[in-house]
Amino acid sequence: MDPEYSPKVVGFLCRWCSYTGADLAGAMRLQYPPGIRIIMAPCTGKMDILYLLQAFEAGADAVFVSGCHEGDCHYVSGNLFARKRVEKVKGILKDIGLEPERVEMFHVSASEGPKFAAIAQEMTERAYRLGPNPVRREARAAWLAAQSSADIAV
Ligand code: FES
Repeated sequence: MDPEYSPKVVGFLCRWCSYTGADLAGAMRLQYPPGIRIIMAPCTGKMDILYLLQAFEAGADAVFVSGCHEGDCHYVSGNLFARKRVEKVKGILKDIGLEPERVEMFHVSASEGPKFAAIAQEMTERAYRLGPNPVRREARAAWLAAQSSADIAV
């Protein structure tokens, strides 16, 4: 493991549920990794595939979308469309040689602060395990070198 590697994770959160859930996690003083960058969306249905890909292009190591629970979307089915788009992005990542698990869809309500903190932790751990996004060439090279050294030491 490379102690220098600090994953960058972008979370697109629906303002009605998950953003409030994240706010609650903060109000409850729950700890979650500092590398999480939150972007509020009016509904996850607003999420465009390009937004997710642009986050990776900008260097995010992992990206997640979190919206209302199924049946609770304020715009009826925005979260269902978002889920399909996230699945599409998983396929695109696989096609370009990135791990599909770098992107994920979740559902967090306004009262689920602990769940939000757990998701933030999970996505950071995933990004840590997968290593830096290859777009971040220097960080990726350093991580691969650290991996090689660890393999030789074992
Ligand atoms: Fe929350 Fe649509 S309003 S996902």
